[in-house]
Amino acid sequence: MLTTLQDQPKDKILMLVKMFRDDPRSDKIDLGVGVYRDASGLTPVMAAVKQAEKQLWEAEATKAYTGLAGDPAFADAMRRLILADSVPAERVAAAATPGGTGAIRQALELIQMAAPDATVWISDPTWPNHPSIIKYLGMKMQTYRYFDEASRGVDFAGMMGDLERVQEGDVVLLHGCCHNPTGANLTGPEWSAVADLLAAKGATPLIDIAYQGFGDGLEADAAGTRLIASRLPETLIAASCSKNFGIYRERTGILMAVAPDAAARDKSQATLAFLNRQNFSFPPDHGARLVTMILNDPALRADWEAELEAVRTSMLDLRTQLAKALQKRTGSDRFGFIAQHRGMFSRIGATPEQVAKMRDDHGIYMVGDSRMNIAGLNAETVPILADAIVAAGV
Ligand code: LMR
Repeated sequence: MLTTLQDQPKDKILMLVKMFRDDPRSDKIDLGVGVYRDASGLTPVMAAVKQAEKQLWEAEATKAYTGLAGDPAFADAMRRLILADSVPAERVAAAATPGGTGAIRQALELIQMAAPDATVWISDPTWPNHPSIIKYLGMKMQTYRYFDEASRGVDFAGMMGDLERVQEGDVVLLHGCCHNPTGANLTGPEWSAVADLLAAKGATPLIDIAYQGFGDGLEADAAGTRLIASRLPETLIAASCSKNFGIYRERTGILMAVAPDAAARDKSQATLAFLNRQNFSFPPDHGARLVTMILNDPALRADWEAELEAVRTSMLDLRTQLAKALQKRTGSDRFGFIAQHRGMFSRIGATPEQVAKMRDDHGIYMVGDSRMNIAGLNAETVPILADAIVAAGV
């Protein structure tokens, strides 16, 4: 049996991690995988997480199973963090999942159960694991235009034009904030127009929110998700705690289903628990417990919010530095979009050949579509990258 297995398609982000690791150059620069790094190149454990772990170590008296949907206190804390009071709690079903990817996977399986013929619409481009999982599950998929290569902003007219073709019952996958891979995001009025369109079409939004707090702040980054959830009868939300709590390897995420009424909410809750049971039984608890403690304890929460804000502003500062360095070198504002983009990523508009040249000549690693992780930079490497971008002829 095992000898009949085929080679599996490679994930381009994870391939890049390996290439970087194998590069012997000591001055190489990793702008690949979406992991936050501080100025010294470390991915630190956040102080509030360390503190919560200490408290948990003292207080935890059992490691017996939680519920199939995880600890309800985690669901409640995450609902408040993401949705605030945009929808009544009674409409929200939720289940903890292994990371944001687990939430996406469970959401797609739920869609398959409820609407097997639904087409899932994804932005072009999007995080490569979105189409990969959709294809793996054998679901129908379509793309909608999202990125304007000329302005490096959102091609909103293209997006709305393509979403005109959405059929009743289809699902539209949206990035809640900090679009991955482009860094270009919808404005408030654009979110509103998308909500109107989806409502008119009878489509269900699936919002992937993996970077809340990395863009314009915790509240501002959730505004689009809240608006959609408050305006549509149903919304699916896949959230990750990997980045904003820095607990990548703990695999902490949640899938929320905002249902039109209490009966649909109860069925959704039972289905989320059922899907967890089929796929992995009980979700991981350690990260979820830390997140719950942090969100519910005023001192830990204040500490976490302050550190997250420092992470966010350090990335914004790097964006400004890079845009300025490129402005100085090119004498033009054509890289001004880097300071406008939000989140961990920017797609800078280099060709695959130019990306390869920066890698070969300067040891600078970014994803082949020219997505770079801004958090991989520091004050010393900004000028090196700016030189490399100009030398590659971007
Ligand atoms: C990324 O986009 O780099 C991150 O979300 C990590 C991953 O799993 O791909």
